[in-house]
Amino acid sequence: MSLLAFITLACVLTSALATPTPAATAKRATCTVNSVASASNLSGCSSVVITAFTVPSGNTLTIKAASGASVQMTGSVTFAQTTSSGPLFTLDTSDVSFNGNGNSFFGNGPLYWDGEGTSGGKTKPHPLLKFEGSGTFTNFIVKDSPAHAISVGTSATSSFTNVRVDNADGASLGKNTDGFDVSASDLTISGCTVLNQDDCVAINSGSNILFENNVCTGGHGMSIGSIATGKSVSGVTFSGNTVSQSMYGMRIKVDSDATDASVSDITYIGNNISANDKYGYLITQSYSEDFGTPGTGSTVSGITFSGATTKVTTTGKFPVVGVDCGKCTGTWNWGSLDATGGEAADLVLGGGVKISGGTV
Ligand SMILES: *[C@@H]1O[C@H](CO)[C@@H](O)[C@H](O)[C@H]1NC(C)=O
Ligand SMILES: *[C@@H]1O[C@H](CO)[C@@H](O)[C@H](O)[C@H]1NC(C)=O
Repeated sequence: MSLLAFITLACVLTSALATPTPAATAKRATCTVNSVASASNLSGCSSVVITAFTVPSGNTLTIKAASGASVQMTGSVTFAQTTSSGPLFTLDTSDVSFNGNGNSFFGNGPLYWDGEGTSGGKTKPHPLLKFEGSGTFTNFIVKDSPAHAISVGTSATSSFTNVRVDNADGASLGKNTDGFDVSASDLTISGCTVLNQDDCVAINSGSNILFENNVCTGGHGMSIGSIATGKSVSGVTFSGNTVSQSMYGMRIKVDSDATDASVSDITYIGNNISANDKYGYLITQSYSEDFGTPGTGSTVSGITFSGATTKVTTTGKFPVVGVDCGKCTGTWNWGSLDATGGEAADLVLGGGVKISGGTV
């Protein structure tokens, strides 16, 4: 008998006899999560299989498996309408390999959507999904999140690939349905699709982040921020993304009252961006206004368009590019930016920043 077969048999016998697993036993080969209770202690599981089930109202689901675990979905998880606050699902495992195998997290958004988002109306659990720990996360779908879909708070090198956030059905009543909200470093998000009604990605803090080859439709585009007091974002590259049918195309938004905060070394390469209402590209230190009295308690520096041309167009009546700086510094190379449509660029260059090259 092979060792694996022996361990498997031992586990089967152990559970059949309903005796506790002896402390000396090796990690269980596979743990099955088919209910909230079955996920209560996965600390000994190096392999977790999530089968199709519904998380009942009043509950949330947390997966905390052994470091290095493989976590696979073999069916979709549905969240019954609930008054629990989010996240409704948390995956917190270091060095995990998470594969949704094309399955979905169904958030039942239409039961909550009332056009008021997180600032009024029905209480909406958010985020739907929260990722902590670290590892690779691939091939899953978020369908109809009540508000924010995915929060990324990983603590070591991680990647998200082939993720689909589909809130297209919220086009009239969905609000604040952010795709990815990121407070993490050493992160790659690539080959993902977001259909929603707010930021496709919003990077609130972190460094060494690559957002590439993603498709964003219907929302508010790709954002850094909003940046609050004490937060910094540095070393972000947006490459090869497509944003379309979007209110804004791309933004860097810093709270007007932020202090001890910075945005630095943001690079755009070969993106295709189309806004249909407001700015194609907006950098503002007067958030939550687009263009107000910019703060001077934060700094923005090193904003570069390089390599393949990034095309920004807007069909709206706003300037295609807006910069509202209180304290922006250095010389920004925008040689690979091609901005067309809308009104002429509106540039307030507080802090003495210079912009060179490009069409602005
Ligand atoms: C969780 O499971 C591990 C091993 O599988 C065990 O050692 C530990 O005591 C359990 N913890 C609780 C709180 O039951
Ligand atoms: C850019 O996006 C627009 C609208 O989504 C599309 O029509 C156009 O073909 C794209 N251009 C490139 C170069 O990908």
